[in-house]
Amino acid sequence: MPTPRPTYDLVIAANRLPVDKVIADDGEVEWRRSPGGLVTAMESVMRSQPGAWVGWAGDAGEAPEPFDEDGIHLHPVPLSTEEVRDYYEGFSNDTLWPIYHDVIVPATFHREWWSSYQTVNQRFAEAVAEVAAEGATVWVQDYQLQLVPTLLRKLRPDVRIGWFNHIPFPPVELFAQLPWRAQLLDGLLGADFLGFQRQADARNFVRACRQLLGAQTKRDRVTVEGSRRQVRAAAIPISVDFNGLEALAKRPDVMARAREIRASLGDPEVLMLGVDRLDYTKGIRHRLKAYEELLSERRIGPPEVTLVQVATPSRERVDAYRILRGEIEQTVGRINGELGKIGAPAVHYLHHSYPREEMAALFQAADVMLVTPLRDGMNLVAKEYVTCRHDLGGALVLSEFTGAWHELHQAFACNPHDIEGLKQTILRAINTPAKDKQRIMKALRRRVSDHDVQRWAARYLAALAAAPDLPQAEPRN
Ligand code: ADP
Ligand code: F6P
Repeated sequence: MPTPRPTYDLVIAANRLPVDKVIADDGEVEWRRSPGGLVTAMESVMRSQPGAWVGWAGDAGEAPEPFDEDGIHLHPVPLSTEEVRDYYEGFSNDTLWPIYHDVIVPATFHREWWSSYQTVNQRFAEAVAEVAAEGATVWVQDYQLQLVPTLLRKLRPDVRIGWFNHIPFPPVELFAQLPWRAQLLDGLLGADFLGFQRQADARNFVRACRQLLGAQTKRDRVTVEGSRRQVRAAAIPISVDFNGLEALAKRPDVMARAREIRASLGDPEVLMLGVDRLDYTKGIRHRLKAYEELLSERRIGPPEVTLVQVATPSRERVDAYRILRGEIEQTVGRINGELGKIGAPAVHYLHHSYPREEMAALFQAADVMLVTPLRDGMNLVAKEYVTCRHDLGGALVLSEFTGAWHELHQAFACNPHDIEGLKQTILRAINTPAKDKQRIMKALRRRVSDHDVQRWAARYLAALAAAPDLPQAEPRN
């Protein structure tokens, strides 16, 4: 008889595992850290408690056997080449992603993509059902797995199910465009508790249930039709591992590397930095436009001022991402061609992933951090930047359209659509006296340190444990 697989009291399900399988040129299998904020946050949560992580290993074909890594049990879910195209690149990132991010680019609707999304969600639900212990807590992550809560409840009515959305949840006027809107809402309502980044996201969800399903809602609760269950939807904004990242940023080798980065850029008076996945939601084009105009108007310029833009490769086979990459690289070429100098380019453009130490050094080296998304669920880069500034140096320019802005009000706020306003904000971030910037940085750091990722996870899991499984008696007034 085969030995039964171990089961776990805490299981998370996310589209990606924390590591991606990569086949090196010599055919050797390598595991690399997966991109994105979800992995950054959930990895630090899962490293500190026993549990299993169900997710895709990042390449098409058979899934590797389950394995343990740094105290987490990793349980890979396979995706075929067609499923990578239809479920991941298609429905997740070319249908849902644009709708959930204000339709910055148009969304594409294909019935085959929806069918693949259903199939893959069912596979995830089955994989979770296999590794979850009796009465386990299952924490489903993000927009790629919105059908999993209801599918899992059918397979395993004994487990407690939470879902957290790392990205925005759109207003009903946009969500209503989805031909499969009712199925998506029904899928989510299988959970006991639904977590969102902002209150507005939770409210959008409750309103969608009321308007599109005709569900009964009261404040943050939705009653599931045909059952006596109530599901709560509330905001619990995600964060970073403040203590871990600060300790990394304080390491002498990381601080030395920060100085070395500045020296290799010619010790500019002002080093500006952008760090984003190469995604149209991140406002990289708007940022470059504002920067280019400031240079053309000779209000700033190299070598005194320079910009490092790290644009992490992302979803490279989705058209909108390929087009964006072309536009960004053309713009960088034009800015450097027209406004750079020999030995002093105006933009240092890097299309790579880096180890955490290098990211921490870059954050420390930067005088002005430009976080200018057109829409972003949270933006952990903003929180990482302030965490790394234990010297109280630096200034954070932060878009009002990020979840982070709702917590980091003291930052230099900007509307990235307003190019003139963005230019003024960048100049203000450069020219505000150091003493005032230190005061601002202190306040920003306090907020992130008091609301770190460990506190986020504890709050989320407490809300999930407290979720009602049957309707509460109405309080008498
Ligand atoms: P998203 O989840 O949309 O990518 P976030 O800002 O929330 O955006 O999270 C991005 C995460 O990826 C952060 O932890 C950031 O440090 C990391 N990151 C971004 N670019 C790189 C890169 N080039 N190399 C390594 N890590 C990166
Ligand atoms: O939450 C945003 C998100 O889609 C996460 O799922 C992931 O952390 C990140 O963006 C990276 O995206 P992908 O997994 O598609 O490379």
